[in-house]
Amino acid sequence: MMYHIPAVLTPDEVYAIRQQMQQAAWIDGRATVGHQGATVKNNQQIDTGSAGYAPLQETVTQALNRSPLFFAAALPLSISSPLFNRYQQGETYGFHVDGAMRRNGASWMRTDLSATLFLSAPESYEGGELVIEDTYGQHSVKLPAGDLVLYPSSSLHCVNPVTAGCREASFLWIQSMIRDDKQRAMLFELDRNIQSLKARHGDSEETLSLLNMYHNLLRGWSET
Ligand code: NI
Repeated sequence: MMYHIPAVLTPDEVYAIRQQMQQAAWIDGRATVGHQGATVKNNQQIDTGSAGYAPLQETVTQALNRSPLFFAAALPLSISSPLFNRYQQGETYGFHVDGAMRRNGASWMRTDLSATLFLSAPESYEGGELVIEDTYGQHSVKLPAGDLVLYPSSSLHCVNPVTAGCREASFLWIQSMIRDDKQRAMLFELDRNIQSLKARHGDSEETLSLLNMYHNLLRGWSET
């Protein structure tokens, strides 16, 4: 499943991040990909070893941690340090695979979900859509600044060439407590329905029972 998580960052945060990104040290985006990715990737990334990187990744990590919708959809067990990229005119990232396992500090994490957090206003650049393939075909995604798309890391995906302007984004991976995409999607749907029943009718025996069911499914399916 693909999910659109709106307003992960406030407009003020988007503005501050983009100001900081202008001062940051940029390197070739091929620094962080494997062999297949390197042959189709043409963009720039912020150097994670540079001084400007830490405050950027902290802002995004904190924003993710305060978003109930992100939590409900991703059920994150670990979240990679967010990276930051930009595509200027003519730059692109062809169809590729995200590696299944990534270094995360001293250990490894499995990539169950990939996320792109859009930072540039969609009208400020042309092209640059994130195109994701799933069993229903290709989906083209271009979101408002501050919004995030979450999609299975198992999907082939690409970024269309930017033909005008500049596309800036942050991107990251999630290892979920629920490895299976379909189980995670069912839990998300159950969670959304419980929340909406509670909002409409307040707490009731039925919502308590559904909440119990949600947690028992999570307990049964989670990997930790
Ligand atoms: Ni990718």
